[in-house]
Amino acid sequence: MPKKDLVTKVWIEEGCIVCDACETAAPDVFEVLEETCIIRPDAMKVDFTKPRTQNIEDAAEECPVDVIKFETASFEVSAEEAAAAEAAAKDSEAVPSGEVDPAPSPAAASPVAPAVAAKRGVAANPGVAADADPTLAALLTTANARGGAAMRERNSAVIPDVVAEWRRVAPEKLPPDIRHARTLEIAAQSAAKEQEREQKEKTDPDRRTVIGSIALGAGWAAFGGATAISAGPAFTRFLMPNVLEEPDPKVRVGSIEKYSEMPPNDVNEDFKPQGVWMIRQEGQIAALNIICTHLGCIPNWLPNDRKFKCPCHGSGFKPSGINFEGPAPRPLERFKILEVEGQIIVDKSKKFQYERGDWSNPDSFVAI
Ligand code: FES
Repeated sequence: MPKKDLVTKVWIEEGCIVCDACETAAPDVFEVLEETCIIRPDAMKVDFTKPRTQNIEDAAEECPVDVIKFETASFEVSAEEAAAAEAAAKDSEAVPSGEVDPAPSPAAASPVAPAVAAKRGVAANPGVAADADPTLAALLTTANARGGAAMRERNSAVIPDVVAEWRRVAPEKLPPDIRHARTLEIAAQSAAKEQEREQKEKTDPDRRTVIGSIALGAGWAAFGGATAISAGPAFTRFLMPNVLEEPDPKVRVGSIEKYSEMPPNDVNEDFKPQGVWMIRQEGQIAALNIICTHLGCIPNWLPNDRKFKCPCHGSGFKPSGINFEGPAPRPLERFKILEVEGQIIVDKSKKFQYERGDWSNPDSFVAI
């Protein structure tokens, strides 16, 4: 029987520029998100990657920054499979110079970058902001020319219909990939808000001092009131406490019985869209933060393997949240958790880190 090298494992290293080239070459293996590209959960299985070897090799070759890596192993294949693989390899070669694609994709029919436009016989248009970093712009332009859709959407001020449609659907009814993307989007938004709040607190200490002084001194209050009236609403707003409208960090996750009945080391994913995994450990329940401690992607819970696996760079975490493989430098974090009249409440404003010994803090778990 002939032998063929087939892909058994694919991953993405740091440095993705979110250009969409890989998703274009292998859409069922790669998914381009707002901030990065991820491997779809199915593509972490050998049986899934093997028949997609050619597409994965194409994606790696197309990647302008060479962050797509894969491993292969030699497998016996039938003569037909070997011939089909060879034909696929030939098909994947570049379009001959001067020829126009017989059935161009919608993207290929769009104006593209000069070099590829010449090759494909279509008009050129880089589609990248004029003030972009020149090296990045060149890479993005070339990748865009390969036909990716996500980048065009990112460059457009209009939200594509399909994205608008997803936003109207309840998270639990979304397909896993889209749910995952939405979770990542929500996590990114809340991380940005947290950063903004911290930044504000660091750079604006005087404002809080002024507000405190006003509250303490009647003379200052009279002055403030009179000035506010004369200076108008903008100044009145300045005198108000600096309240940020942020989502409530407390999440009600249900009754204690619900979690007590789970077997030890089991994971409940009902509140993943809110950024929480509920876990049952020996004698306690706890709430894990779903953000990977490597670079902030969202891992998947793989019930058959009994582990969380991060699709970005392959970090693995045990059901307790402890890291054991891949580049993640520390365990997942836990949130504060409390029981109030038989109901469990997770408070995401307070986090506990294993490496600091925080997990022995009684606020980091509920004993059962
Ligand atoms: Fe890199 Fe999770 S973000 S492994």
